[in-house]
Amino acid sequence: MVYRKRLNSENISFVICEMNLICYQRRADHSENRWSGQQKPDWMLGDGLSFSKRLIEARKQMLSGVRSVASTQPNALQLHSLRPMRIIIEHDPESASNRAAEIISSLVQQRPSCVLGLATGSTPLGIYQKLIARHQNHKLDFANVTTFNLDEYVGLGPGDPQSYRFFMQENLFNHINIPPENTHVPDGRALDFDSYSIQYEKSIQEAGGIDLQVLGVGGDGHIAFNEPGSSLGSRTRLKTLTSETVKDNARFFDDIENVPRLAVTVGVGTILESRKCLLVAFGEHKARAISQAVEGPVTAQVTASALQLHPDVTVILDQAAACHLQRKAYYAEVEESHRLLEK
Ligand code: F6R
Repeated sequence: MVYRKRLNSENISFVICEMNLICYQRRADHSENRWSGQQKPDWMLGDGLSFSKRLIEARKQMLSGVRSVASTQPNALQLHSLRPMRIIIEHDPESASNRAAEIISSLVQQRPSCVLGLATGSTPLGIYQKLIARHQNHKLDFANVTTFNLDEYVGLGPGDPQSYRFFMQENLFNHINIPPENTHVPDGRALDFDSYSIQYEKSIQEAGGIDLQVLGVGGDGHIAFNEPGSSLGSRTRLKTLTSETVKDNARFFDDIENVPRLAVTVGVGTILESRKCLLVAFGEHKARAISQAVEGPVTAQVTASALQLHPDVTVILDQAAACHLQRKAYYAEVEESHRLLEK
């Protein structure tokens, strides 16, 4: 499906076809400038507004069947970081975690004061171990990094071994040189969750937004604790966990009865605003959620599918998590081209 947007005063159109974007500028002599790629062309003016936000909006309209929209904001484009979803299938969780840790480390090296969005759970454990090793052996420096975690159980304080704050301290923060005040995990014991949630969103914005969001996926396709049915535009708020998630997470508790039913979680909309997303999944129990998220329709029933609307997503899987993907061979070919280009 093609979506075309015309920016009248600049005489610029852009066409989004599947995941590709092509821009045209009609010149006074009726000839055309044509551009497609990842660098902003000289003739395209920018006014500082986020291009990715506009792209997300354009794709949403495309999905709801809008074909042509006249823009009232002619100069509002910044073209950066526009890529199709990149699917990397590694042999096992070990090599997949290595790959994910490499992506995070190169960002930290390139931009020492970057903002990372972090997840808890089994999936990122190997990645965190590799980051710790890089800090200890290669002096990967976290002194200026800021982090925001996705979620926290309601009712659990930082000293509770089942809390996500505790998890992050034990599995990452205590072993790297990140200043404690740079780490943010939602407060599961906030007194007023409505105002706390607004404050959490504000803190992310004040830090400059998230540069790289690390995500796991639930068996029901959730990202963060955005359970099936969550609005794709949702922001930080309280969320009731599904019985599937409660059952999945019971492995970390003595008794399923002790698993909190409520969590404070960033929204799908919050996640879509990060500049880059890194979705990681291992094991056959994630294969259905992954195939729905990557190849299924965009739907609030599988909130990970909203990542299809994001302009810069890398998905790193082991073979088992990739086993239901229909286009595995194609993803491998694309990866091969990436590798050749990167050489
Ligand atoms: C955790 C989080 C969740 C998990 C997901 C997968 O902060 O946001 O969405 O990423 O439930 O959990 P694991 O990795 O334990 O399978």
